[in-house]
Amino acid sequence: MKRSKILGVGSYLPSQIWKNSDLEKMMDTSDEWIQQRTGIRQRHWVDQNSSVCTSDLAIEASKKALENSKIKKDELDMVILATLSPDHEFPGTACFFQAKLNVPGIPALDVRQQCTGFIYGLSIADQFIRTGTYQKILVVGAEVHSKGLNKTPEGRDVGVLFGDGAGAVVLGSCEKSELSSMSHILSTHLHADGQFARELWVQEPSMNHPGDRMDSEYIKTANFYPQMNGKNVFIHAVRRMPEVILEALSKNELNTNQIDLYIFHQANLRINERVAKQLEIPQEKVFNTIDRFGNTTAATIPIGFDEAIKAGKLKPGMLVVSAAFGSGFTWAATVIRW
Ligand SMILES: CC(C)(COP(=O)(O)OP(=O)(O)OC[C@H]1O[C@@H](n2cnc3c(N)ncnc32)[C@H](O)[C@@H]1OP(=O)(O)O)[C@@H](O)C(=O)NCCC(=O)NCCS
Repeated sequence: MKRSKILGVGSYLPSQIWKNSDLEKMMDTSDEWIQQRTGIRQRHWVDQNSSVCTSDLAIEASKKALENSKIKKDELDMVILATLSPDHEFPGTACFFQAKLNVPGIPALDVRQQCTGFIYGLSIADQFIRTGTYQKILVVGAEVHSKGLNKTPEGRDVGVLFGDGAGAVVLGSCEKSELSSMSHILSTHLHADGQFARELWVQEPSMNHPGDRMDSEYIKTANFYPQMNGKNVFIHAVRRMPEVILEALSKNELNTNQIDLYIFHQANLRINERVAKQLEIPQEKVFNTIDRFGNTTAATIPIGFDEAIKAGKLKPGMLVVSAAFGSGFTWAATVIRW
């Protein structure tokens, strides 16, 4: 029986940093409000006058992941790209990304599960490797949010939260017999509840308008910007994340104390603190990056892996749990022997 192991990790943040104070005038917000409610101090955004888009950030992160994994791009059997900020409506961003990486012919799959997209992508890759279909798969989470946010006071509840960035992992196949000594994905656990789809979404443009959707009046509204019922997202996140973490631990007959490091999605520091408190996980076992990068949606977890490695907090042999919650609603967790 095959299992998936992490061969290499990489991440990329665009160079322009926007501190909370830079948003104060633009959005009628304050550094104090943002830090108190979310833990965010700054975020990285692409140059707003450039043509840089999601697949470009994905390429930068993937090159580093490939370099760290010591494999050549031509050895890849598949690429999976998770994003909620696609380059174009169609085709999928994974196709643009695949062309830029210059790996023609192999399957290129988009995952559109937003904040949970990276774990969904990891799970899909893991299934292909477990069945022996593919041996090496690149999974990327990448976002350019900054060009799609309402940066006026009307959009401040969402606008201050999001950053641009990308993270990638290269997965490789290993034999089950080697597992005791090698890193591998123990399990992945995926969930969704579409009745909450409108709690965090971009409403327009939509095919649900009669006639040509571009004839709609939507362009006069702000409905093409993300909208969020922040309180409801918060309530569901602090319920679903502990639930799916316990599900993942139970599946592997582990308890919270046996986990060396928790690398959660970075939506809000208060969510992660609340989750840790509920599960009696010491805060020092939770690795957060939200203060520096904000919410980079599908990219937060692979960026977290990379940053934790660089900080010396994530080392081979460790047991790691990742969990995410977001738009859809979707939520997921994974347990990894690093
Ligand atoms: C967004 C969030 C931080 C807002 O915090 P909150 O405590 O719920 O704040 P509220 O929405 O109740 O707003 C409180 C006040 O702050 C104001 N406010 C909202 N955004 C603001 C901002 N960026 N700056 C300053 N004031 C702001 C509101 O207008 C409101 O003012 P009022 O009391 O005069 O009406 C919080 O709901 C949250 O983190 N939710 C989850 C978000 C999330 O995880 N999203 C991504 C999912 S993956």
